[in-house]
Amino acid sequence: MGSGGIDFGAGEPVCRDAVARPVATNSTTPWLERQKYYWDAVAPTYDLQYSTEWSAAENVIVARRLSTLLPEGPAPKVLDLGCGTGLGYGMLTELRPDMEYIGVDASAGMLDIFRSKFADDIQLLNEPVEGLLADRFHGIDLVIATFTSASYIDLRLRELLARVASWMKPSGCIYLSFLNRLSIGSMGALGFGRVIDYSSRGFTSGTVPAKRYTSRELIETCAGLGLSARTVSLGPFAGVFESKFFIRTNALLANYGGFGHTVDLMITGKAAAK
Ligand SMILES: C[S@@+](CC[C@H](N)C(=O)[O-])C[C@H]1O[C@@H](n2cnc3c(N)ncnc32)[C@H](O)[C@@H]1O
Repeated sequence: MGSGGIDFGAGEPVCRDAVARPVATNSTTPWLERQKYYWDAVAPTYDLQYSTEWSAAENVIVARRLSTLLPEGPAPKVLDLGCGTGLGYGMLTELRPDMEYIGVDASAGMLDIFRSKFADDIQLLNEPVEGLLADRFHGIDLVIATFTSASYIDLRLRELLARVASWMKPSGCIYLSFLNRLSIGSMGALGFGRVIDYSSRGFTSGTVPAKRYTSRELIETCAGLGLSARTVSLGPFAGVFESKFFIRTNALLANYGGFGHTVDLMITGKAAAK
């Protein structure tokens, strides 16, 4: 285990209800302490671990999707939750150099790397998403949490989605990436547990708690909130068999959910009233 602390072992039910216990911006919890400790430790080698041909191909898949969610017209306002070392910023700024970007991350170490990579004056908030309450942002065009960032946020799914939706313009879109609870890759070691001890690629000296979801849970929760949504993935081989020989096939299959490592939620607005 990484940082001492302990709490949510594999298979335990999804944890505390943040609706009843809103977390103030400056407060912390064992879950959050572990996130900060873990990602600070991962930060120096994070980009290197994800600099493979496979990762580059995944980035292309995600960038293409984000391009469909960005509105035309004047500078879009984008919010990047768990922005890490700036992957989302890099993708989006290529698509829309005029965007207004806000990155949020609980790890100061990840944000230090982010700042060191770009000359731009970027708005970065070193805060946990749990502390961003419903009235914190207004008029956002696109909210993203790429490469499973949404899985480390300690809010109930409904609360997370409701908060994010409250920050959006009515025409806004959302792209949130989660770990897949029905992933074939992790089934042997982790079963179907909702909360797991996760470790990112190449990092062997610790784990961090992460929540997993099924496509169905995501879609049903969106429906309950009146949000139009679909789920996609990073392909069936992601996290299972990342051979460069499968890059093309994997990319072709990525728009179909299934049993891949991630389940990515694309919300494109309010559902039509019945
Ligand atoms: C897998 S990394 C993804 C980083 C980036 N989005 C990317 O695509 O490369 C997850 C990120 O989420 C951040 N994170 C974890 N828990 C968080 C929380 N509760 N609030 C904000 N950021 C958090 C971590 O510090 C880390 O930078």
